[in-house]
Amino acid sequence: MRTVDWEIAMPFGSVVVPRDPIRSKDPRGVTVDVSRETVASGADNSREPITESFPPEIESLRADLRLDPADRIGPRDRTRCIAVANQKGGVAKTTTVVNLAAALAVLGCTVLVVDMDPQGNASSALGLDREPGSPGTYEVLVGNRSVSDAATTVSGLPGLLAVPATVDLAGADIELVSQVARETRLRKAVETFLNQRAEAGNPIDFVLLDCPPSLGLLTVNALVAANEVLIPLQSEYYALEGLGHLASTVDMIQQHLNPNLVISAILLTMFDGRTRIAPQVAEEVRQHFPAELLEAVVPRSVRLSEAPSYGQTVLQYDPGSVGARAYLAVARELDQRDRRLVDLTDQQEKAVTTES
Ligand SMILES: Nc1ncnc2c1ncn2[C@@H]1O[C@H](COP(=O)(O)OP(=O)(O)OP(=O)(O)O)[C@@H](O)[C@H]1O
Ligand SMILES: [Mg+2]
Repeated sequence: MRTVDWEIAMPFGSVVVPRDPIRSKDPRGVTVDVSRETVASGADNSREPITESFPPEIESLRADLRLDPADRIGPRDRTRCIAVANQKGGVAKTTTVVNLAAALAVLGCTVLVVDMDPQGNASSALGLDREPGSPGTYEVLVGNRSVSDAATTVSGLPGLLAVPATVDLAGADIELVSQVARETRLRKAVETFLNQRAEAGNPIDFVLLDCPPSLGLLTVNALVAANEVLIPLQSEYYALEGLGHLASTVDMIQQHLNPNLVISAILLTMFDGRTRIAPQVAEEVRQHFPAELLEAVVPRSVRLSEAPSYGQTVLQYDPGSVGARAYLAVARELDQRDRRLVDLTDQQEKAVTTES
């Protein structure tokens, strides 16, 4: 375990956070993907203008969202696998996964969502079948089922695939304890799937993993499969509570199981600029995590909380809402950061080559 050596003074008390879980990492770690050796070796980040057309349902959603034809970020040349994690409950992990996935899909990406939470909220929000016994994350983790078998398409969002969580997943944390390679099961399954898709000429651009509010084996499997962690923080009192423990877990997994893992983004959710605490939380997080805090914030919005009860993402439920716009902004910013980091790394590599 790392030493805890950083104390953040919050207006409402202080929170201890381990130092340098993030900035000490090579920026390349943020940009590489699960299958970069096999799927995207030699990938070049210089992009031609993308001319592929959208499926009709996406085209119609884009019209509802009033997106400019040039406003797209996919297809990409590498897969990014992002675990959306925070062991604190109710901070908008699931809301972020489903709406970010939808935003990426309307911006031209092919996305796989894996519901790692036995509560199955992401599955319900995407209108997926959660009948016990139907293929889902449990079968992938415990029953050696392939991701391609367990993944289903999401109605109204071509380009978005999801592996649902059935109630069976509730037992997985305990069942996995006695299994061989218990921490790497998701990673292997996802890698196989990504390779199959890439070989078939139909690669996945983003994998988003919705973690449960705990740091048990399900979350560990997600952190081993991912290369990036996105942490949603509710803009409220005690927002940073538990962040030290999460950073320690990420650090431990980075050291022992997944050297590529980094915390790449922190997203403020349920932000209400009219309160005094929300900007204070934003300022505190920015002071300590300037590189990771996303500029885009997700405002508190009733539309975001209503959409799941219709089995829809907010982009479908209310395309004009602030929630829909916020998650589109998050998707674009994640893409822009990735490009900047790749450009920077390319420049550093060129400089080293020239010198030698
Ligand atoms: N920006 C927002 N504005 C209003 N309500 C929101 C917003 N984001 C999330 N919510 C609501 O807050 C609640 C918790 O959100 P969500 O389920 O996404 O959190 P979570 O971190 O996944 O929770 P859990 O830890 O239980 O998995 C839900 O009722 C959701 O609809
Ligand atoms: Mg959730």
